[in-house]
Amino acid sequence: MHFCDLKLPNSAESKIWEKAKKLVTSNAYILGSEVNHFEDAFAHYCEAKHSVGVATGCDALLWAMEALGIGKGDEVITVANTFIGTVLPILRVGATPVLVDCDPITQQIDPEQVAAAITPRTAAIVPVHLYGRLAPMDELFAIADKHNLFLLEDAAQAHGSRYKGRRAGSLGKAAGFSFYPAKNLGAWGDGGAVTTNDKALSKKISKIRNYGQEKKYYHDTLGWNSRLDSLQAIVLSEKLKLLDQWNENRRTVANWYYDRLKDSEFCLYHERSENEAVHHLFVITHKNRDSIQEKLQSKGIPTGIHYPVPIHQHKCFADHSFAKEEFPHAERQGSELLSLPMHPNLTESEVDEICECMIKL
Ligand SMILES: Cc1ncc(COP(=O)(O)O)c(C=O)c1O
Repeated sequence: MHFCDLKLPNSAESKIWEKAKKLVTSNAYILGSEVNHFEDAFAHYCEAKHSVGVATGCDALLWAMEALGIGKGDEVITVANTFIGTVLPILRVGATPVLVDCDPITQQIDPEQVAAAITPRTAAIVPVHLYGRLAPMDELFAIADKHNLFLLEDAAQAHGSRYKGRRAGSLGKAAGFSFYPAKNLGAWGDGGAVTTNDKALSKKISKIRNYGQEKKYYHDTLGWNSRLDSLQAIVLSEKLKLLDQWNENRRTVANWYYDRLKDSEFCLYHERSENEAVHHLFVITHKNRDSIQEKLQSKGIPTGIHYPVPIHQHKCFADHSFAKEEFPHAERQGSELLSLPMHPNLTESEVDEICECMIKL
């Protein structure tokens, strides 16, 4: 049994090799038509006007913030229970991350705490669509509008999810996606994209990720080398065609879990009915998480912990002011959550086996 299965249908894999061969013979390795094609297809998929391919999901958030002029003296509010890739870009642009706790029921950023964390220096809010579920965008928009703040989606785990009918990546001023291989849409290596409805912003980011140039060797702004690889664009374009079906399969798997575990002692989290989660991860909580994980491991059932350490407790942040703060819900999540196997090829009998094993523990 796999925790995450990255297998592709043979036909899609053959198509990728075919296109890759063409690319290699054409020597067009950097940017060019394959990247352009993927950017257009991904923007269309996200129902956003523009998409810019970059090297990683971390870079997507970084360049979005840089292009928006967020930097030294600014504060950016995000949530304590996320992957470090949400927070590092805030620091890299020179801004100060301001952490808030999550809602204990939804595991998503708590809007009341966001409202309480606003100061005259707040420039942006970065909600994370954690596990492929949706952050409470209406509540966050109300706060962002009131205080004139940017709302930047961290959509690294949410390719294809919908908030009240609208796709992740089309909701905020911009969104950062990761194409790390295990994501719902994953490359055969690293990759990322920014989506936005703002043409000028997308142009700015296109320049930044390509050494600050539009015309070769004419560098108008200080940029960086952070381009989406053309070979990865080929992989992503082919996989994008399968994404809706894969997400549908993930929803079916999630429903099997909900059904089998509904009367169990495990705490399950449901998406609000008006939203469509894409179940990047299927996360439950239990007080005896560690022993449950060990027992499942002994039966050959792989699990994960996303994430064991909340942001403020990482050693690398020891010198930051938020290191001294307490976020009890995020801390409890870290010690109680368990990610069960989740991927589009998981079968009903595998889910039965996992759940029977969990219930008998
Ligand atoms: C929530 C979140 N934010 C940001 C990132 C950063 O993406 P990447 O690993 O592609 O840089 C990830 C990816 O793992 C993530 O899960």
